Amino acid sequence: MLVLGIETSCDETAVGIVDSARAIRANVVATQLAEHQPYGGVVPEIAARAHLDRLDGLIRQALLEARLTLGDLDGVAATCGPGLIGGVMVGAMAGKAIAAVQGLPFSAVNHLEAHALTARLTNDVAFPYLLLLVSGGHCQLLLVKGVGDYRRLGGTIDDAVGECFDKTAKLLGLGYPGGPMLEKAALGGDSRAFDLPRPMLGRSGCDFSFSGLKTAVRQLVAAKFSETGSDGLPTVFVAAMAASVQAAIADILADRAGNAFRLLRDGGEAVTALVVGGGVAANQAVRARLTELAGREGVAFAAPPIGLCTDNGVMVAWAGLERLRLGLRDGFDVRTRPRWPLDSVA
Ligand code: KG4
Ligand code: ZN
Repeated sequence: MLVLGIETSCDETAVGIVDSARAIRANVVATQLAEHQPYGGVVPEIAARAHLDRLDGLIRQALLEARLTLGDLDGVAATCGPGLIGGVMVGAMAGKAIAAVQGLPFSAVNHLEAHALTARLTNDVAFPYLLLLVSGGHCQLLLVKGVGDYRRLGGTIDDAVGECFDKTAKLLGLGYPGGPMLEKAALGGDSRAFDLPRPMLGRSGCDFSFSGLKTAVRQLVAAKFSETGSDGLPTVFVAAMAASVQAAIADILADRAGNAFRLLRDGGEAVTALVVGGGVAANQAVRARLTELAGREGVAFAAPPIGLCTDNGVMVAWAGLERLRLGLRDGFDVRTRPRWPLDSVA
């Protein structure tokens, strides 16, 4: 079975093609980084127009890369939410149009489900598993029991973890997108230099909070600025702060995921693996802490390769394939949704 997937829910226009033998036949991604950089964040209207401009060319490029034509496909999948609705509509309409013209089944993919199932493509992980979904818009712990079968164990009560990376990076003058920049800046820094708050740490449950951490960084940065004046922040300070922020975030994620394991154990629910997905899963410090945790819990740790952690079309194609091969197809009247919680996918 060959499925083409389209991703346009945020600032990446992406197309992927996968087959049921778990081979990635094509993976093309066009990032809109340059368009949004002047604004320090994603501008929805600019994103939608950029998706519209590029998507046709990317679909052609993906087919070329895979040496396939539309006639070779067995299905089409597109992210239909959650996300910035203008962009989502562009991808969904393109996917539906191809499916309609070629007479193929269509799958309306939930972006979060695409992140959630990626590790099954890349690491062949078996259900059920514990998923830590950490991206720019989401931060949640989920029990993944099967395709379309999710139980949310906890989520953020304020910012998503990617937002915390992005906002603290901005405070440090590191630019956008903040996560990768902050990780780079942290390389030479002492992670124990600042004793930053770790909200919720040690508390029961699986919810997250990052606003206290962000506020603490803002105050420390402001204090440093009043010391240095127009000289700006010293490189050593930035490196140490970046490393300290990253360590605090990794501690929070590992603590909450640890609670999720406890919760599942108490409920008699055994899992095969700890899986991390979403853009923040690209972070090496986060990966290291989660690897440690999985080791302690005696389960496998699975993290997709970095390029498949951030938004891509391959994960959408794969989620579509998983759904289509179970007979789950969607009509062309399926709606696009700005909000679409994962535990309602079924
Ligand atoms: O999954 P994703 O590409 O888009 C969303 O669906 O949100 O995630 C993007 C987020 C951004 O906040 C970005 O700063 C963060 O993932 N991110 C990282 C790293 N790479 C991307 N955060 C920390 N370290 C990284 N290496
Ligand atoms: Zn994403």
